[in-house]
Amino acid sequence: MNAQDPAPKGDVTKTANIVLNGKQSMMPVRSGSIGPDVVDVGRLYRDTGCFTYDPGFTSTANCMSKITYIDGDKGQLLYRGYPIEQLAEKSNFVEVCYTLLHGDLPNKVQYDDFRNTITRHTMVHEQMTRFYTGFRRDAHPMAIMCGTVGALSAFYHDSTDINDPKQRMIATHRIIAKMPTMAAMAYKYSIGQPFIYPRNDLDYTSNFLQMCFAVPCEPYVINPVMARALDRIFTLHADHEQNASTSTVRLAGSSGANPFACIASGIACLWGPAHGGANEAALKMLEEIGSVDRIPEYVKMAKDKSSGFRLMGFGHRVYKNYDPRAKVMQATCNEVLANLNHRDPLLDVARELERIALSDDYFIEKKLYPNVDFYSGIVLRALGFPTSMFTVLFSVARTVGWIAQWNEMMEDPEQKIGRPRQLYVGPKERPYTMIDRRA
Ligand code: CMC
Repeated sequence: MNAQDPAPKGDVTKTANIVLNGKQSMMPVRSGSIGPDVVDVGRLYRDTGCFTYDPGFTSTANCMSKITYIDGDKGQLLYRGYPIEQLAEKSNFVEVCYTLLHGDLPNKVQYDDFRNTITRHTMVHEQMTRFYTGFRRDAHPMAIMCGTVGALSAFYHDSTDINDPKQRMIATHRIIAKMPTMAAMAYKYSIGQPFIYPRNDLDYTSNFLQMCFAVPCEPYVINPVMARALDRIFTLHADHEQNASTSTVRLAGSSGANPFACIASGIACLWGPAHGGANEAALKMLEEIGSVDRIPEYVKMAKDKSSGFRLMGFGHRVYKNYDPRAKVMQATCNEVLANLNHRDPLLDVARELERIALSDDYFIEKKLYPNVDFYSGIVLRALGFPTSMFTVLFSVARTVGWIAQWNEMMEDPEQKIGRPRQLYVGPKERPYTMIDRRA
């Protein structure tokens, strides 16, 4: 938002009138800078004695935010107003982190200063290594991430006072800087290799690649095309407004929990296959399909509700058009495979599956398009990551979105503990019966 364009504060532009049980509620309708208006139902219960009911929050805005905007019908995604396609092409992940946190693109001094700060927080307390060695070798790296990121609050207690803006910013820098180190440690542990320390002469993404793929016995050469592709994947996943994991972080933070605990809660939520786990599930599905001739069988199964099968990497709660991140991901996929001179038969399966699904009435009517996860697995596989690491990579990227949203909430004067209500459909009050009298 620039200086001539003052930030709207969700101003009341009209009212909505509702009459229930003979009682009236005049509810303010608030407008943002773009996107649908919202009916502010905050007084509905007081006025009428009724709650609203919206499982899955399909019509509910949970907060005011200035960070990320999605127009699902247009297939548009903006970080602080900047289109994702432009950021993916011209920016880099560290600059995107600064922008998400601070609201505008940094100037050169701000960028250098921020990059330097993040670089100097990449090491983790040496005793953290003991946590890793306590896990089974075959533990899923997301299980390790849930535990170790939560444990950060035990190591960095000096940045857990949520009422101190300076501590909040230190925690923010720490978590963004340490996530790649911790993700790489989870990977190294799972394959029985020694942990590799961060290197401050490398950029954020190249450093992550070397922590994952270097070994102490020989030099590791970074492929710039791979580093650029991964950096773009991080940019594409950096934030996505009030998705399930971000809402989880906000809800956890609303009780005053410390930022490391809140991010750990986001990681746990992200793990689910309907959310961040979809990239792993999408690649497994492509592997299971295996060849182009089996696609019709799977498309048929996806259309049959009784099968319980869905095309992973297809559909989105908000995008009812092509996910703009999927377009960039598809181009990145072609670039990486061409650079590595690598032909992945799964790419043929993915392309044909997309073609068949996009011409099928079921998918057209339900507006189901490929989402960001449809092609990301093929890129990550080409970069050398096992499927179990895919969601971990998503969590590295999304950490900045989570912490930016958490900071925004902490600075919001209207912030209060999140406490939804319910439509109770259980038994009415009844007396306790002694066990010898029960049927
Ligand atoms: N394959 C087959 N049918 C589908 C699919 C799919 N992938 N996605 C939705 N549908 C159908 C669904 O059965 C329903 O049909 P009907 O209206 O007849 O009951 C209709 O489309 C709407 O589905 P929904 O589950 O009500 O939609 P939702 O907004 O609650 O779910 C979703 C969104 C992403 C969870 C869902 O599309 C899905 O499960 N997709 C597969 C998992 C996936 O790729 N997730 C990654 C999301 S992008 C990454 C991220 O942001 O986390």
